[in-house]
Amino acid sequence: MEVIDQTMLPGAVEVLRLTTVADVVAAIDRLAVRGAPALGVVGGFGVALAHRESAGGPTQLEPLLNDLESARPTAVNLARMVRRVAEFAPQGFEAVLNAAFEVRDEEIAASRGMARRGADLAAQFVDGRPLTVMTICNTGALAAVEGGTALAVAEELHKRGLLAEVVALETRPLLQGARLTAWELAQMDAPHRLIVDSAAASVLASGLIDVVLTGADRIAANADTANKIGTFGLALAAADAGVPFVVVAPESTIDLGTSSGASIPIEDRGAREVVSYPLEGTAPPETKVINPAFDVTRAELITAIVTERRVVDLSGGGTLTGGQDPEPPR
Ligand code: MRU
Repeated sequence: MEVIDQTMLPGAVEVLRLTTVADVVAAIDRLAVRGAPALGVVGGFGVALAHRESAGGPTQLEPLLNDLESARPTAVNLARMVRRVAEFAPQGFEAVLNAAFEVRDEEIAASRGMARRGADLAAQFVDGRPLTVMTICNTGALAAVEGGTALAVAEELHKRGLLAEVVALETRPLLQGARLTAWELAQMDAPHRLIVDSAAASVLASGLIDVVLTGADRIAANADTANKIGTFGLALAAADAGVPFVVVAPESTIDLGTSSGASIPIEDRGAREVVSYPLEGTAPPETKVINPAFDVTRAELITAIVTERRVVDLSGGGTLTGGQDPEPPR
């Protein structure tokens, strides 16, 4: 499997070759590959590697599947796609590989659907004039094979001539917004500015922003949404400023088996990336740290959830479980 090593961006575009399950787990653990949909796809192809390593034997396969699905706990896509693809293990390697390609193709198609539906919705928030969009973390093609989630909506607005500007949060501690989102926006020639995370509330209060668009790592049945740390604060500030707060995520990120945000496992990534990233000595090395990689935004703070199949208008009383069935992807 070949993936871009996201830890090297924006300085260099380097391709990593992952040939074993241990390679895949290590790449996921150090965020060389990251973003919920991309984790699902990499997990799916990881099952193909696991199948080869275990020669298809179920006893040898299961520990490898456990390693893959537990490499990161919050994004539901990883464990979900590992288990989905693993169902084909008894049918042999080709069947497993085909299932992994199917997951990849579905995520690529989902990105297109989210971009269209999200741009249609965002355009309704203003009277046809170009929008200024705020976003956090990285939700572009890097996070989702092609297109992306929230950033795919911004890209679609840009293609339609409806994007005034993206205001991207740098996204401490690992700077996915600064390193990855600013890089992707430059690649798509889209107007953008970067802000430090702590500037978000005052920029929202200033009236500059028309809509906040974020991705998601797991959406619970009651629409509580886990996403990159800082998203909850952004939603509070958006509510205070009266700015619509829209979550853009594929159906594969919705986890109806998790009833509310309180049950979503939140990864704590330890002290190192806070006390010594991007430079050694950011803080005294022995400093104790709290480093949750994600937070949960309560459903009541979310205006709408956009997937490839539907727009759930939470502010209008919509729910993920009630209402009409999702439409086919378009
Ligand atoms: O820790 P990361 O970089 O994997 O966190 C990623 C995010 O929080 C994204 O917003 C989320 O996965 C949606 S990506 C399309």
